[in-house]
Amino acid sequence: MPEPFVLSPSLFPEGVVVRALRLGEPTEATLAAFGDVALPERLKTAIIERRVHFLAGRHCAREAMRALAPEYATMAIPIGENREPIWPFGIRGSISHTKRYAAAAVSHMSLVHGIGIDVERWMKPEAPTKLGAHITLPDELAPLVEASGLTASEVLTIVFSAKESLFKALYGGVGRYFGFHDARITRLDNGTFEGRLENSLTFDLKAGFPFEGRLARVESGVVTAIVWTRA
Ligand SMILES: CC(C)(COP(=O)(O)OP(=O)(O)OC[C@H]1O[C@@H](n2cnc3c(N)ncnc32)[C@H](O)[C@@H]1OP(=O)(O)O)[C@@H](O)C(=O)NCCC(=O)NCCS
Repeated sequence: MPEPFVLSPSLFPEGVVVRALRLGEPTEATLAAFGDVALPERLKTAIIERRVHFLAGRHCAREAMRALAPEYATMAIPIGENREPIWPFGIRGSISHTKRYAAAAVSHMSLVHGIGIDVERWMKPEAPTKLGAHITLPDELAPLVEASGLTASEVLTIVFSAKESLFKALYGGVGRYFGFHDARITRLDNGTFEGRLENSLTFDLKAGFPFEGRLARVESGVVTAIVWTRA
């Protein structure tokens, strides 16, 4: 079984439980170690890396649910229409995985509307030139780089991850795809970030809707976290 990994406790507020694993090379033995999670039919023919990542994410989710509400620990977390995890009634959560890590965060629906967690490897120095316009608005990246003192590729990685966390956190309320230009990150440092929606997504989530999140460095990457709380 891949080794448990403790993510920074400051990523999420009290009431959110996080579990993570450090992953190695995907092997048949790793797959077998996740015998507690069933692989959905549609993933049975996927490449081994995808199967390991899926199982590792679901395993983290089950372990987090075991700590939050043990009665949910053995419940399945099916895949929704747009790949979103379908959490047991009363639970909100989020899953992320990379080559190195799998992580899941869960909480009670009475405390949060939605949760987003995202782990990313640091992008290469050329990423801002190649991918910047896809991930950020025209006037978004430069002021963040200037104010944070981080490199442009570090800032872009954090912005990308923060927006993916936002997507996961809001998806349950929005119910459809929305893109990287629908939100703007307005401030970030080594531990926190803030932003706002650039476009209205629903009646409740209008242009200007503010959000904030936390981030932590992990080996060769960064993890971001967002909790959409009840007002
Ligand atoms: C869905 C998405 C955010 C996943 O991020 P990723 O970096 O590719 O992969 P991660 O490992 O971090 O996350 C994958 C997990 O996200 C979860 N996920 C996938 N689609 C989701 C959705 N619609 N809503 C919530 N969670 C979702 C799943 O649990 C998935 O793991 P699984 O397939 O093993 O269950 C990404 O693929 C995507 O579509 N991004 C475009 C939308 C976006 O980010 N817009 C920015 C808005 S500001």
